[in-house]
Amino acid sequence: MPNGAGGVAVADPGTARAAPPPPAPVASYDDAIVRMFYTATVLWGVVGMLVGVTIALQLAFWPANLDLPWTTFGRLRPLHTNAVIFAFAGNVCFTGIYYSMQRLLKTRMFSDLLSRLHFWGWQLIIVLAAVTLPLGLTQAKEYAELIWPIDLLIAVVWVIFAVNFFGTLAIRKVRHMYVAIWFYMSFVITIAVLHIVNNLAIPATLTRSYPVYAGLTDALVQWWYGHNAVGFFLTTPFLGLMYYFLPRAAERPVYSYRLSIVHFWALVFLYIWAGPHHLLFSALPDWAQTTGMVFSIMLLAPSWGGMINGLMTLRGAWDRLRTDPILKFMVVAVSFYGMSTFEGPMMSIRSVNGLAHFTNWVIGHVHSGALGWVGMISFGMLYWLAPRLWGPLAKPKWATTHFWLATIGIVLYTVSMWAAGLMEGLMWRGLDDAGQLKYPNFVEVVGDLHPFYWLRFVGGTLYLVGMLMLAWNFVLTVRAARTAASAPAPAPAVA
Ligand code: HEM
Ligand code: HEM
Repeated sequence: MPNGAGGVAVADPGTARAAPPPPAPVASYDDAIVRMFYTATVLWGVVGMLVGVTIALQLAFWPANLDLPWTTFGRLRPLHTNAVIFAFAGNVCFTGIYYSMQRLLKTRMFSDLLSRLHFWGWQLIIVLAAVTLPLGLTQAKEYAELIWPIDLLIAVVWVIFAVNFFGTLAIRKVRHMYVAIWFYMSFVITIAVLHIVNNLAIPATLTRSYPVYAGLTDALVQWWYGHNAVGFFLTTPFLGLMYYFLPRAAERPVYSYRLSIVHFWALVFLYIWAGPHHLLFSALPDWAQTTGMVFSIMLLAPSWGGMINGLMTLRGAWDRLRTDPILKFMVVAVSFYGMSTFEGPMMSIRSVNGLAHFTNWVIGHVHSGALGWVGMISFGMLYWLAPRLWGPLAKPKWATTHFWLATIGIVLYTVSMWAAGLMEGLMWRGLDDAGQLKYPNFVEVVGDLHPFYWLRFVGGTLYLVGMLMLAWNFVLTVRAARTAASAPAPAPAVA
């Protein structure tokens, strides 16, 4: 199979050797929708990370809970996770998908109306989440907290997106579907299935419902959903973005197209079975726990295949890493993808999980994936897109400063949480000479976590400052583009 640089349509292997293909018709792409999703990404990125820093502060300094029910950690934590996953990361995915899909398939989106309904519907869901979560209205299922009327709206908006997505595939002008499109497709299909199955519930009032599952079944369905929300919301669409934007930024074809296909099929097949690693040592039958563990360990292979493919795409372009902040963001992102997908399988091993579960180690793992992989690939993409959607970046040097702030922020965040998690895990199981628990008072362990929580707060603040720099750069860039567009055309030269 021939190599295909992201963005360059790959010739159909069956016809490539015959006559050269006729030039593809020039399509008029809908970039207004890309700009809308981009703007929403920046807005929700700032909000989600600001709430993240706030809850990090609350864990280090309890008066920051403000003694109000709406601002306590318990209510703001789900606001953070929903804002960063569904509002920030979701809008990043839609920005990248709407931009790259039209170019890869050489066609405009199927329906401008559906694109707008998707955009406004998704933003409405985010606003409803931002109102209901601080009010304490929740289903109490992690990453699926939103109450049933909002769940119904999510299902409707997702169907709108899916019709637009598959409609665009149907009217495509290029027969071959580049691998990024396959990754996007897994996102569209799997999220719909996960959301509907996990949220099946019987409404009792407008704000309360009872899940159709009970006890262990509920837990299993929840973590099948929870794990695949990571797999199909924070991983596969972002891999699609990597396969499109990394080759474009590096101006190199993807290292191995064959490897990208193997990566895709192996990853989607394995991910879907790994959920029970969240329920190790629970009442779940042993065989189901072991299945989750084994599939999680196998996941290392395709994940690293993807990482190697991403890094090797830079062959011959490594020198540009010194000067190009976009490539810096992308390389660090792919490296963190490799790190978190090595750590995850290790944490799935029962004995390791026995040490890590319930500790801050899990939080460190989450944020090496979230800040390192999801955040950094998003920033790289956003900086690459801005000049193509508006005009030259107003402050190009800020991108490099942002990169360093974010990198130092991630290191402070993850290292402090790894250290805190290991300490907690070891203290909980520590025994004295008589075989008694060495630290029977839970609060003693909590006290020792304090310095690590402050360190995490500092790291998170640096990461947030980087995000604010991106946001301000974006405002200045858009403003400059508008001023240039409204400036009167230069008078024609007089002969
Ligand atoms: C400024 C950046 C950020 C800071 C300071 C931050 C801080 C936090 C804090 C303090 C928690 C609660 C930890 C606990 O309960 O012990 C948390 C949870 C979480 N955050 Fe962030 N966060 C940030 C960015 C992000 C981003 C960008 C994402 C995803 C793209 C993310 C995803 C999550 C998830 C999934 C959890 C729940 C983890 C779990 O339940 O194990 N965070 N974050
Ligand atoms: C091969 C890939 C991966 C495997 C096998 C894996 C495995 C695991 C394991 C074993 C846990 C701890 C469960 C527990 O003890 O509670 C976990 C938690 C988590 N991981 Fe991963 N991980 C992988 C990649 C990633 C990536 C790339 C991300 C982010 C982009 C991520 C996000 C999370 C989140 C958000 C949680 C916390 C879930 C919760 O308890 O709320 N993981 N993962």
